[in-house]
Order: sequence, then structure tokens, then C-alpha cells
Amino acid sequence: MKVAVVKETTPAERRVALVPEAVAKLISAGHEVLVESGAGSGAFFPDEAFSQAGASVVAPDQAYAADVILTVARPQDARIGSLHQGQAIFGMLAPLTDPALARQLAATGVTAVSLDLIPRTLSRAQPMDALSSQANIAGYKAVLLGATAFGRFFPLLITAAGTARPAKVLVLGTGVAGLQAIGTARRLGAVVSAYDVRPETRGEVESLGATFIELTSVGSASGEGGYARALTDSERAAQQAELSDHIARHDVVITTAQVPGRRPPVLVTAEALKSMAPGSVLVDMGASKLGGNVEGSVPGETVVTDHGVTIIGAENLPSSMAAAASSMYARNISSLLTYMVKDGELTVDLTDDLVAGVVVTHGGQVVHPALAGTEPPR
Ligand code: NAI
Repeated sequence: MKVAVVKETTPAERRVALVPEAVAKLISAGHEVLVESGAGSGAFFPDEAFSQAGASVVAPDQAYAADVILTVARPQDARIGSLHQGQAIFGMLAPLTDPALARQLAATGVTAVSLDLIPRTLSRAQPMDALSSQANIAGYKAVLLGATAFGRFFPLLITAAGTARPAKVLVLGTGVAGLQAIGTARRLGAVVSAYDVRPETRGEVESLGATFIELTSVGSASGEGGYARALTDSERAAQQAELSDHIARHDVVITTAQVPGRRPPVLVTAEALKSMAPGSVLVDMGASKLGGNVEGSVPGETVVTDHGVTIIGAENLPSSMAAAASSMYARNISSLLTYMVKDGELTVDLTDDLVAGVVVTHGGQVVHPALAGTEPPR
């Protein structure tokens, strides 16, 4: 099969879907690999590195004509329109947040496979779990951003010029990104506390050397598949009020809370922000156009409040560590592709729960159960 890596077209996206090491593996598995010229430059993988790994460096039209197209984010509409039956596209296509995309892909006849839909609880899907690999990177980078914006030390430091007490870091939301944030802040020497609405994360938090905060006003909000459920209005108000006291006592707050299919919950209200000491820093990993975990955060921007609290609206942190993020993503996407190839051909076996979990469109239809009933435009 001809497998092509295309250059990302989303603004500020620096990742690339395959790195040279992964190219070599696909070639030894019998595939021909094409790489759009310049595809790896944002992640510091020049065309020559791909050529040396055995890929052909090609023009965009050639890449988009391959049997299988590998991407990080969805391509532009014009490129999607040029796809056709017999081709497949693999990427983080995010069809649940953009159902029109699923209809658009179905109309072309292409087989679309979205890595963000991987059924994460299947153990054989772990090597393909791009949500986790990229969340790990984001959690790490969020702490570095927080530490850089904080005008004091993270570790306890005893010097002839005085003693610096360790920074107090609070991590809200202890999924994959939150746990990585805890580990990173601990490695920098901070004293870390953490909170999640899923109390079952307490053990993981404590094993990383952090203190788990339990709120008395909100019980467990564990939902389906290991995710949190959305809180009711009264639960949310109680949570925000009780959290405010904890927030006021911390120097750096990293928020990572998400609820699948919903806008991120507000955990840090404008009132809570006012109670923080000048010089405190928040890194909002939930920042989005719809709003984030911190009231007033703006995705991609750093805002400083009137009384000197810095709010960093984190946006696409994995792209800011493009080399590491691409290497991990390349392993995820190659594992999924290899899993779906039988006798040298892409095989779409929708009776396999892993395959049914990731295939969005096939044979001109939207086939994913979460998007069922979404007809192609006529
Ligand atoms: P996520 O990105 O959807 O959410 C991040 C965290 O925010 C979660 O821990 C969630 O409980 C928390 N949260 C949501 N609303 C909140 C609120 N109002 N207040 C405080 N915290 C709130 O989560 P992520 O990182 O994608 O992981 C979700 C689950 O999937 C976890 O249980 C994780 O262990 C599980 N998982 C399982 C895998 C496996 O079984 N192989 C692989 C990867 C993840």
C-alpha cells in the first residue's frame, strides 16, 4: 500500500504524523511511504531524514493521492473534497465535536479513521492511544509554563542569601494530563495537592507524592468508561465555593478538567481568582473558545489580572513539544494502521470492537455508532 504523510495545515500546528523511525518500520512491513515535502520541518525532521529512512518526498497532490493518508489534525476542506472511495485517512479528526465533518467525509467515499475515538479501556488499544500520549506531553509542558511565569522557585532552596520555601502547586483534574503535571511539579520540588471528582484517582495521586483534596460538599461524579459525568448546577456551585479556599492557599494552579462532549467545567471562578496572592499563576489546560476551567482565560493567550495573577490559556501544548509529540503520535498511528492491515490491505472489520470504535466513515456511510444517523449531504 502507498501510505502518505501530509503536511499539517492547521495554523500553529507543528507536529507531523510519522517520524523517520516509524517510516522505516512501515517500509519493512512492506508499505511504500510518501512524505509531503516540508511535512516534518515544524518538528525538526527535515525531508532528508525521511528520504534516508526510505520514504519518497513528494508534492502535496501526490501525497493526497495515496491509498492511506496519515495526518495529525483534519486537512482543509478542499483536500477533503479530493478524497475518494478506496482511500483511507487516519488522524485526530475529532468528528464528535464537528459532526458536519463526518458527513463531508462520508460523501467522498473515503474510509476515515479517527484516533481520538480509540476505545481506551481495551488493553490492546493502549499502543494506539494518542489521547493519552498527547495529554502526557501537555501535562508536562503546563507545569513548565507555570514555573516559568512564577516569579519564585519551585523547590526548597537554602542559600547564604536566604531560604526559599517550596512552591505550593494545585492540580485540578487528575486524568492522564493531571497525573503527569503532578509528577513534573514534584520533580521540580514543589509541594503538590490535587483534586478530582473521581475519588478513585486518590491512590494514583498519593503514589506520586501529592496530597489528595477531598471536598465535603460534592460526592463522587464518576461517569461511564472511567470518565467524569457533568455536575448538576447545585453540585457545581458547591464545588466552586469549597475549592476557592484551597485555590487561595496555592501559588500555582494547573487545571485539566474535561467532561467528554461538554464544555470544560469552571473550577476557578472570578471570586476565587481575587483571593489568590499577587504573583500566583494559573495554567488552564481546559481553555477553549467556549470557556475553560478558569473564568476569564483566553486560549493561546496570557492574561494578567488587575491584582497581578497570571492566567495562561494553554492551547495545543503538544504542538509546542512537536518532536516528542510527533514521535509518540507516530507510534500510535502506525500501531493502529498495522492492526487494520491484513495481507497487505487495509481491512475494515466492523465486528472488531476496536475497529468499530475508530472508523467514522466507510463505503459512503457514517458508520460510527456515536454519529449514527448522520447522512451524507445530497
Ligand atoms: P479527561 O481529559 O476527560 O479529564 C481530565 C480529568 O478531569 C478527569 O480525571 C476527570 O475526572 C476530571 N474532571 C472532570 N470534571 C471535573 C470537575 N468538575 N472537577 C474536577 N475534576 C474533573 O480525562 P483523561 O485524562 O482523558 O482520562 C479519563 C479516564 O480515562 C481516566 O480514568 C483514565 O485513567 C482513563 N484512561 C484509561 C485508559 C486505559 O484503561 N487503558 C487509558 C487512558 C485513560
